Amino acid sequence: MFYTIIGTQWGDEGKGKIVDWLASKVNTVVRFQGGNNAGHTIKIKNKTYKLNLLPSGIIRGKKCIIGNGVVLDPWALNDEIIKLRKQGIYINSKNLMIAENVCLILPIHKLIDSMNEEVRGSEPIGTTKKGIGPSYEDKVGRRSIRLCDIKNRKILSKKILNLIDFHNYRFKNFKKRVDKKKLLNDLTSVYRKLNKYSQPTWRIINQIAKERKKILFEGAQGALLDIDFGTYPYVTSSNTNSGQIFAGTGFGSRKNHQIFGITKAYTTRVGSGPFPTELKDKVGDYLGEKGKEFGTVTNRKRRCGWFDACLVKQSVNINGVDDIVLTKIDVLDELENIKVCVGYKINKKRYDYLPFSEESQKSIIPIYKIFKGWQESTYGIKEWSKLPSNAKKYIKSIEKIIGVNISIISTGPDRNHTIDKKKYLKSI
Ligand code: IMP
Repeated sequence: MFYTIIGTQWGDEGKGKIVDWLASKVNTVVRFQGGNNAGHTIKIKNKTYKLNLLPSGIIRGKKCIIGNGVVLDPWALNDEIIKLRKQGIYINSKNLMIAENVCLILPIHKLIDSMNEEVRGSEPIGTTKKGIGPSYEDKVGRRSIRLCDIKNRKILSKKILNLIDFHNYRFKNFKKRVDKKKLLNDLTSVYRKLNKYSQPTWRIINQIAKERKKILFEGAQGALLDIDFGTYPYVTSSNTNSGQIFAGTGFGSRKNHQIFGITKAYTTRVGSGPFPTELKDKVGDYLGEKGKEFGTVTNRKRRCGWFDACLVKQSVNINGVDDIVLTKIDVLDELENIKVCVGYKINKKRYDYLPFSEESQKSIIPIYKIFKGWQESTYGIKEWSKLPSNAKKYIKSIEKIIGVNISIISTGPDRNHTIDKKKYLKSI
């Protein structure tokens, strides 16, 4: 059986807890897109682990694979490995494998990321400045340096020259310079540390699948940040949707796959871009404070707003989501009334999806359904029957609008703060 975790909003849906839970039950955990722009926090007993690049299964001693769809900052990965070692998590070539054809994030990509944001002036994307976008640009431009390219100094040297020649023109304008020799030496030295993880991981994944072992595909960011289907250009540079699993790992089987869509009971977003249900008032501040809505990678304050059922329904369709995991329902506990966006009005026309044009997205008037709040604590509730009736109504209505079961409800940060309606987590 294969499991996939996808964020159905703009990331930060609270994937860490459920990813860790599923990771503890499978043989292998695989990342298939993004890079160290992701931030997954995992709490086990009194210890907190923060992961950016490594698949979450690493904490549970599982086999972990970084697929070719990821862009890999080798220095960031090395730092992450060292940090985890200090916390008692040991990483070796048995529990970590990296696709030998993974494209690298180099220091110049981070510089370009910052330069690109500067050039956009008053309309920056609000990237994490980790070099994600520029690295994917070089990948598509067929200039990337892949992990397997570092082995041979002659080939590497040629590739570095090619890459720098391409970027030099803009670099001159920004009065920046890249030291080619230093880059060559730095890459060679970091490769000595990472070489042992480099593998044709597509073969390994397909072999594990043939042996009927369970695999978890761990999505990062969220469906609305997808380069094709997100709120372009205010998106990340990878395909965050479930379709990317296959291209980003070389996994070939479409059978026996269960896709969980992780969805927050309200909406948040980091960085710029459209956000139809954003609240710039006391309720927005309340959600931010109670939900501790600060970015784990950049520490930026997250923008907060009402649940947008229109957008989640769109994500559910595009990702083929089988079941929703609803998180942070307890954050809504104190509200008197709760709104859910069920459609948009744009230039007097009604929409039940988000049109792609930026012009339309700027003129959205959300159409809300208003629910009575429950104003009692749901924190830590483990059974559906124990939820306040207004909370049940809220959840059931969302379920109806988005057309898929909300099978797991997270009521707090601990594992046992979970309502597992279909007993999925127990049966896996
Ligand atoms: P980039 O991925 O660094 O290029 O950033 C592009 C956009 O995606 C920005 O709005 C970021 O804030 C957002 N983003 C990237 N990674 C994450 C994430 O893991 N969670 C939430 N937002 C993210």
